[in-house]
Amino acid sequence: MKNRTFKKLGIETSVFGMGCMRLPLKESGKPEDIDEPEAIKMIRYAIDKGVTYIDTAYPYHGGKSESVVGKALKDGYREKVKLATKSPVWLVKEYDDFEKYLDEQLERLQTDYVDFYLLHAMSQERWEKMKELNAIGFLKEMKEKGKIKYCGFSFHDNYDTFKTILDYHDWDMCQIQLNFYDQEYQAGVKGLKYAASKDIPVIIMEPLRGGSLADVPSQDIIDLWNSAKTKRNPVEWAFSWLYNFEEVNVILSGVSTMDQLKENIEIFEKAEPNILDEFQLDLVNQVRDLYMEKIKVKCTGCDYCNDCTQKVAISMIFDLYNKAHMYGDKEKYAKQYNNSLVKNQQDVSQCIECGICESLCPQNIPIIQELKKVHAYFTE
Ligand SMILES: NC(=O)c1ccc[n+]([C@@H]2O[C@H](COP(=O)([O-])OP(=O)(O)OC[C@H]3O[C@@H](n4cnc5c(N)ncnc54)[C@H](OP(=O)(O)O)[C@@H]3O)[C@@H](O)[C@H]2O)c1
Ligand code: SF4
Ligand code: SF4
Repeated sequence: MKNRTFKKLGIETSVFGMGCMRLPLKESGKPEDIDEPEAIKMIRYAIDKGVTYIDTAYPYHGGKSESVVGKALKDGYREKVKLATKSPVWLVKEYDDFEKYLDEQLERLQTDYVDFYLLHAMSQERWEKMKELNAIGFLKEMKEKGKIKYCGFSFHDNYDTFKTILDYHDWDMCQIQLNFYDQEYQAGVKGLKYAASKDIPVIIMEPLRGGSLADVPSQDIIDLWNSAKTKRNPVEWAFSWLYNFEEVNVILSGVSTMDQLKENIEIFEKAEPNILDEFQLDLVNQVRDLYMEKIKVKCTGCDYCNDCTQKVAISMIFDLYNKAHMYGDKEKYAKQYNNSLVKNQQDVSQCIECGICESLCPQNIPIIQELKKVHAYFTE
């Protein structure tokens, strides 16, 4: 397992970070129904293979991810890793709430402290609220009490907001969304370089854009990848593009099966910086341009919008829409939409336009408007 150093903190972790937002599920397929034995087996397998960074958060899997991670880290595994989780800042109404949620998380995680505690999914709006509630004071207090070792934030907004937050405090680390498709989106490569220039370690999330860069691509994309002398599958290309940056400390990989985990750990055996030449970097950009044409809605399938009272299957609907364009097969995906989602009353016609989903979406997708577009496309 390849490791990298957090120079600022004087610690080392594996480049591969185990993301616990997309753990294996039971047959129901509901996010809260984690297949616990399998998930625990996978987390422990990763640690046995040298993975030393584990990432979870309060809301993942309807609140169950932290408890499963806590169970997986029993029997001596906790001591082998750096554990990261995040403050559910949208639930915090007053200063004391911060510690209330942290205590609940420590209980779920069955530990006395977390190594990295992040303010979850910062945007300009959330950051303003954090300043009002003295979040930095809270983080300092928790460090003094020994409940957290290091503090940071995860981020989903534009570069200027990222820079503002980064410049406000001497952070121990930060976490950004980055993959070759999103090079100039949110914090982007510019944000990665800026954080590194300040010596702030960077953790990467959504390296495969929530899996969309891992799906079998259309033939023109396959042909482009195959034109490279060094053969890699799409998953390896996406990870290589990221670990090629020496500024990247950890890449969080979300995996929903043991096979994916094994494959990704093997890919990360090659996680050295500066391995891609100019031709390869140019090829990645050509592939990105093709994806840009085909991905119509920038949904990453994170399911943060999962709380829809009308049970509209938002991420699934966007996935079908994007796939219809990726593979140029409207009929096939319209059939899935009409036969499955419409039949189960999970389609767009159920939407009452309450807007709750839009307030939760880290990609700032105008969900209501986009859903209407998809419905018209699949039903016309
Ligand atoms: N703080 C935040 O705001 C935030 C937001 C997002 C993520 N995160 C963290 O970052 C972690 C990583 O993000 P992510 O889960 O979106 O990672 P990702 O790597 O972009 O996507 C993970 C998905 O990619 C697919 N995949 C992974 N390996 C594969 C392989 N070898 N072959 C085929 N498909 C593969 C799987 O999709 P299928 O399940 O469809 O097979 C998997 O669930 C999360 O788990 C979470 O811990 C944090
Ligand atoms: S706007 Fe529609 S899709 Fe979004 S949460 Fe409300 S009902 Fe659900
Ligand atoms: S619509 Fe937004 S919140 Fe919902 S799954 Fe997609 S990216 Fe996540």
